[in-house]
Amino acid sequence: MNTEVMEYGARSVSKAAELLKCGQLVAIPTETVYGLAANALDENAVRNIFKAKGRPQDNPLIVHISGIKMLPPLVREIPDIAMRLAESFWAGPLTMIFPKSDKIPSVTSGGLDTVAVRMPESEAARAIIKQCGFPLAAPSANLSGKPSPTTAAHVFEDMNGKIPLIVDGGECSVGVESTVVCFKGDVIHILRPGGVTAEMLAEFGNVEIDKAVTAQPEKGERVLSPGMKYKHYSPKADVFIVNAHNMKFREYCLKRSRYEKGLIALGAGAEENGVFLDYGDTPEKQARNLFSLLRRADELNAKTVLVEMPDKSGVGLAVYNRLLRAAAFRIIEV
Ligand code: TXA
Ligand code: MG
Repeated sequence: MNTEVMEYGARSVSKAAELLKCGQLVAIPTETVYGLAANALDENAVRNIFKAKGRPQDNPLIVHISGIKMLPPLVREIPDIAMRLAESFWAGPLTMIFPKSDKIPSVTSGGLDTVAVRMPESEAARAIIKQCGFPLAAPSANLSGKPSPTTAAHVFEDMNGKIPLIVDGGECSVGVESTVVCFKGDVIHILRPGGVTAEMLAEFGNVEIDKAVTAQPEKGERVLSPGMKYKHYSPKADVFIVNAHNMKFREYCLKRSRYEKGLIALGAGAEENGVFLDYGDTPEKQARNLFSLLRRADELNAKTVLVEMPDKSGVGLAVYNRLLRAAAFRIIEV
């Protein structure tokens, strides 16, 4: 199959909607990461997402809507707290879990009786959904296990020949996937941290962070968010988090780079010596750069990637959560 890349605009929106209406897959930009979209209500179309990504069948997909009116038919119940969060954070990088209605096929929800829904902020994503007239199931548009794509070029690397169209909306502004929450009474339970932070959610109720966000699930343990149990976001290189900052981090990496080939360090600060790549000095910048730099490390044939411990506040918790998985929970104490 020939994969076309078209810039976001009236022509690409029409083309995307046309393909999606025929049950095909289209990669679409969102503010978080690129999504691999299909009609969420069409079982066969959704099955193709799992095939193209090589994704485990029990890992449920997020259903994307373009307006709040699309929500009620998809769910059996909308808690008050969810309505309040929707008013404040939609359109935006927040995904909420609801009991699902019969409209949602079981393949879409990975066999669960709940469904994850989000309204993306990206104008391109919403224009495509609107033109379709149905919600889009869209996981990140990477091959399963690889870093999520934040540019159309990343999507092309993973999906060339597998899908007919990639809509190019430029670089994603958030850079990590949406925050996923479920509700336990009035408690907002964070299953995956993202652009809508724990601090932001705390203004609306008690916030609990699932233990799988920062800890490795025990073998066989049931996790609330199935995605958390899989290895994720990994470049070919071995990734390690280094619990040191600034000069201490740099000195440690430089010392190792003297006798190790293929060592790349991601840290805050200037690029130097072909060893250091700059991942930014704020949580927002680090979120935007992380996945792209992990892919860059592969291009540079890195064998080992050492990453400076991120600040865990705000969107930094999302950076830390993705890094832990990329590093298979390996932290080096210096
Ligand atoms: O920002 C995003 O959310 C991006 C863009 C494309 O919108 N999408 C995305 O999808 O990250 P994906 O499939 O890569 O991640 C979905 C996450 C997984 O961890 C999955 O297990 C969880 O959401 N999830 C989906 N439905 C769920 C449900 N019913 N209950 C619990 N977790 C669910
Ligand atoms: Mg993903």
